[in-house]
Amino acid sequence: MEKKNIDWANLGFGYIQTDYRYVSNYKNGAWDDGVLTEDANVVINECAGVLQYAQTVFEGLKAYTTSDGRIVTFRPDLNAERLEQSASRLEMPVFPKDRFVEAVKKVVKANEAYVPPFGSGATLYIRPYIFGSNPVIGVKPADEYQFRILTTPVGPYFKGGAKPLTIRVSDFDRAAPHGTGHIKAGLNYAMSLHAIVDAHKQGYDENMYLDAATRTKVEETGGANFLFVTKDGKVVTPKSSSILPSITRRSLIYVAKEYLGLEAEEREIYLDELKDFAECGLCGTAAVISPVGKIVDHGKEICFPSGMNEMGPVTKKLYETLTGIQMGTIKAPEGWIVEI
Ligand code: PLP
Ligand code: COI
Repeated sequence: MEKKNIDWANLGFGYIQTDYRYVSNYKNGAWDDGVLTEDANVVINECAGVLQYAQTVFEGLKAYTTSDGRIVTFRPDLNAERLEQSASRLEMPVFPKDRFVEAVKKVVKANEAYVPPFGSGATLYIRPYIFGSNPVIGVKPADEYQFRILTTPVGPYFKGGAKPLTIRVSDFDRAAPHGTGHIKAGLNYAMSLHAIVDAHKQGYDENMYLDAATRTKVEETGGANFLFVTKDGKVVTPKSSSILPSITRRSLIYVAKEYLGLEAEEREIYLDELKDFAECGLCGTAAVISPVGKIVDHGKEICFPSGMNEMGPVTKKLYETLTGIQMGTIKAPEGWIVEI
């Protein structure tokens, strides 16, 4: 397969149109068979549910070229399950898990020429999503939906690559208790746009959101979960019912325990204890593991001992093990790697 002429090593995290996308429509209570199409445009009614009441949920996963030239994805079954949970919470029909995984395989295979080569530092980002497509004017769920998967080759989510980030504690909340923070709904991201634009204006890379009820506990950023390392080498991540259950974070906890022999724990993490941690990172499909060097809480700087130049040693081991598993240089746990 001849690859497209793309400068893989210098890709940012942006949209590049690829040749095929997968589309299935839901009507009269059932999903149709689904097709691959070359048409990148969606034509919907002006009153479609997604346009009026933001009835849309999505997922994000990646395809990787392994060291021996295979193309694989990482735990797509978990993305399928999370999409089911997201769709159910917004009263949308569920796209069946086995069909989801098959559709991911199909669309990646069709866009094989855009899957970045091993060692290029880039990957093929896969974005499945569902949206309400028929006209809705009273506040109620749509009756018709479209499930789509687009793909786009991407480089690092944060511009500096592995350079540690500076994060500010946000005065805006991302998710309410008993709200929608635990699902991947477009509305959670729409409400974070003002906060991220403002953070960038003030010179910060991202926002740290706190729990909306008490504003004392760490939740997550706009697009990734947090991970901390204690001074005695234990990995800890925030536990909250209003953050997205990151597949990367869940995988890293397993990797920390089973591959690196570290203690790892999911628990409530208070803003007050950040100063005691040795390392901090953001984890997610797009972020992979991006190191955090500094958190600024209303002028008060919390600087991690790992500094502003490189990843902390434990974060680095986690990063290398996870990416090794994804790229096929380290043996994966059963079922984590799905070959295209
Ligand atoms: N938190 C938020 C808000 C996200 O958008 C993402 C990205 O998907 C994550 C966390 C990380 O989740 P995952 O590791 O499943 O990609
Ligand atoms: C992902 O990591 O897949 C996400 O959806 C995060 C998004 C902010 C790009």
